[in-house]
Amino acid sequence: MDQTNAHGGWVDLHCHVLPGLDDGPAELAQSVAVVQGLERLGFAELHPTPHQYAGRWTPNRAQCHAAAAALRAALVAAGSKVVVADPAGENMWDELLAARHPTGAQPHYTGARAFLLEFPRDALPPQLAERLFELRLHGSLPVIAHLERWPELADDPARLGSLAGKAALLVNLSALGGLGGWSTRGRARRLVLKQRVHAVTSDTHGESDLPFCKAGLEWLLRRLGPAGARQLLVEGPRAILAGEIPEA
Ligand SMILES: [Fe+2]
Repeated sequence: MDQTNAHGGWVDLHCHVLPGLDDGPAELAQSVAVVQGLERLGFAELHPTPHQYAGRWTPNRAQCHAAAAALRAALVAAGSKVVVADPAGENMWDELLAARHPTGAQPHYTGARAFLLEFPRDALPPQLAERLFELRLHGSLPVIAHLERWPELADDPARLGSLAGKAALLVNLSALGGLGGWSTRGRARRLVLKQRVHAVTSDTHGESDLPFCKAGLEWLLRRLGPAGARQLLVEGPRAILAGEIPEA
C-alpha cells in the first residue's frame, strides 16, 4: 500500500476531474483513472471545480452535474469508494464573476457558503483586500486558489496580513511536490510552514499531476506529521465548506 495513504480520508476542494468540461480529462475513462490515483493517495472526498473562465471554459450547471453523475456511476462500476460531491467551480476574477457575484450566482461548494476564486496569472486585482471584503459582504466566503503563484502577495507579510478574515487561502499539493518549479515549491512550502494557509488541495488536471501530489503529500506528512496533514487536508477543508475560515 502507498505509505501516503496510511492516514487518508483527505477532502479535496480543488480538482479538475470531471470529463469533457475544461482542461481536465477529456474522456470518462481518464477521469476514473485520475480519481483512482487520488484514492490511492488517500483522498476520500472530491469537490470538482471545473473552470469558470470567460472566453475559455464556461460549463453550465446542467453539464457539470451530468458529468459528475457519469463519473460517480463509472467509479462505482470500477469499485472506487471515493465520494464525488456536487460540482463547484474555479471562478476566474473576470467579467463573468463580476456579473454573477452580486446575486451569488457564481458556482459555490456544497452548502452554498464558499466559492473558489482564481486570479489572472499576470496581475493581481488592484485593492485586493477591499474587493475581497466586498465579496464577504455579499454573504459568502472567497477561497483563493494556489496562493503560491503570486510572490508579490505570498512573500509580502503586510499584504498577506491584509487578507486576514476576508478569505480562506489554499496552496496546491502538487506545488509542494515540485510542479511549477523550485521557486514555486519553495514559496508553497514556506506558506505552509509559516501557517499562512488554511487548506491544501490537489488541483489535479490529469494523471501526470499525481506524482507531484504524492511528493507533496510525503513532504507534508514528514514536516507536519499526521495531525498537521489532517488539519490541512480534512479539518481545514471541512471548515471552509461550512463557510468558516479555519485555523491556519
Ligand atoms: Fe484549478
